[in-house]
Amino acid sequence: MTRVWSRCLGLSMSEAVPTILHADDAAAKGPTRDADAGFLWDFWYPAVLSSEIHGTRLVTAMLLEVPLVLGRTAEGKAFAMRDSCPHRGIPLSYGHFDGTTVECSYHGWRFDACTARCVEIPSLSSQDKLKVERIFAGHYPCEEKDGYVWVYMTSPGTRPPEKVPCAPALPVFSKRYKITQLECELPSHVDQGIIGLMDPAHGPFVHQSWFWRSKHSIHEKQKQFEPIPYGFRMSPHSPSSNSAPYQLLKKITGEGVTTTIDFVLPNMRLEEIHSGKMWFSSRATVTPVRWDLCRIDFVAAWNLPFLPVSLFRMFGKTFLRQDQETMIKQAEGLKHDPKLMLIDDADRPAKWYFGLKANLLEARRTGGEMVHPITGSVTLRWRS
Ligand code: FES
Ligand SMILES: [Fe+2]
Repeated sequence: MTRVWSRCLGLSMSEAVPTILHADDAAAKGPTRDADAGFLWDFWYPAVLSSEIHGTRLVTAMLLEVPLVLGRTAEGKAFAMRDSCPHRGIPLSYGHFDGTTVECSYHGWRFDACTARCVEIPSLSSQDKLKVERIFAGHYPCEEKDGYVWVYMTSPGTRPPEKVPCAPALPVFSKRYKITQLECELPSHVDQGIIGLMDPAHGPFVHQSWFWRSKHSIHEKQKQFEPIPYGFRMSPHSPSSNSAPYQLLKKITGEGVTTTIDFVLPNMRLEEIHSGKMWFSSRATVTPVRWDLCRIDFVAAWNLPFLPVSLFRMFGKTFLRQDQETMIKQAEGLKHDPKLMLIDDADRPAKWYFGLKANLLEARRTGGEMVHPITGSVTLRWRS
């Protein structure tokens, strides 16, 4: 069923290969293309898995509607350039990469992969005065962490700052651990993807599984939240008594289980679970690919000896597929531009997200301090 859904919409739930985007898809988006797409620039976003770039292969990706070409130099350094030749705009990914420079397939201009500086224009004669080294292709800071190639997406028309912050790293709590990555595309604007990610009320309806919980286990909950830089935290607490895996963990370690969940701009949900010496840490990011398409990248690490990677992946994929199928159905409804609601308290995290985003943009616009939409500790109550 999922396969069919996915195929219809050209969506994928693959672990490795991101969907190759076609020009027609972008055009289908209509008049929204030139409007402010509501993206948050000047942040790191995961572009592809590190394992996808090897040898002299050039790989394409799209982030925030920017086409990218990625690769790895002979020295092993990942790079990301705008997939467009500054001469006539042909995608550089059609060109040739020799481990140091990318050669455009049209007129053979060559660009240094790390700096994107032009190093050769074959057509120039001895008479030409053109300063080749002053020509650059678009390029973006690039870093590898947790098995992903992260790209720092600077706002259109600006250069990367001198000092770029480090790319996010998943917190881990012991020397040895297992780690795995999953991904899933959603046919939605990034905001819908993010508020879906932090929505506490859909669990009993969307994520009904024998291994997780049933619809009948719904009960009233009360959780404490606090502001953190660029986000908010669900303060450390004992996780839901209606989730089987937490109960199992408690049985195995014989100790209490605590979980802490953070949301941090632009798009990140981090969860840490601890029980005695055992820990589980995960991060989900929702990255805008296009205005109408986003991608969840989910990475999890743990030192629980009884949880093999293969078993976790099976559960994880089921979970993501449930979200994906729901978002596919929602996209069907959103086509007709309905009025939507955010209710208290179950949708308060979603309101905070919009508040954080608006306040960040306002602070950037005015050059002032960002005002945090949450002023202190807050208790939210909902049933799930
Ligand atoms: S278009 Fe790339 S070299 Fe001319
Ligand atoms: Fe979900």
